[in-house]
Amino acid sequence: MIYPGVELGYRLCLKFWGNGYAKEAAATILSYGLGDLRLTNIMAFTLPQNRSSLRVLEKLGFLYLHDFIHAGLSHRLYEFP
Ligand SMILES: CC(C)(COP(=O)(O)OP(=O)(O)OC[C@H]1O[C@@H](n2cnc3c(N)ncnc32)[C@H](O)[C@@H]1OP(=O)(O)O)[C@@H](O)C(=O)NCCC(=O)NCCS
Repeated sequence: MIYPGVELGYRLCLKFWGNGYAKEAAATILSYGLGDLRLTNIMAFTLPQNRSSLRVLEKLGFLYLHDFIHAGLSHRLYEFP
């Protein structure tokens, strides 16, 4: 299934993990997308084993939709709001 829309993504060098940077950066981008750009929703997906990424999405208020296959691997699809 194809979901039209804008995807939020983030990737940090390992030495910067665990400082809250991902959540802070993603929250700012989310606010810009929904505010200034007037997007009605934003998608995000991550590997289920990437616990920190799942946690970031949940802390931001993303809602889990379902799992899907991307690049041959199972991913978790989320949507905001
Ligand atoms: C996702 C990523 C950016 C996280 O960066 P980060 O700056 O460390 O994230 P934050 O510090 O903002 O938050 C991490 C949260 O996950 C939690 N966490 C970390 N490891 C965890 C684990 N193994 N299990 C459960 N929660 C975990 C942290 O405790 C924190 O939650 P808290 O604030 O409630 O304590 C980093 O893992 C990364 O670059 N991964 C590779 C790229 C990627 O997968 N991107 C996502 C796909 S779009």
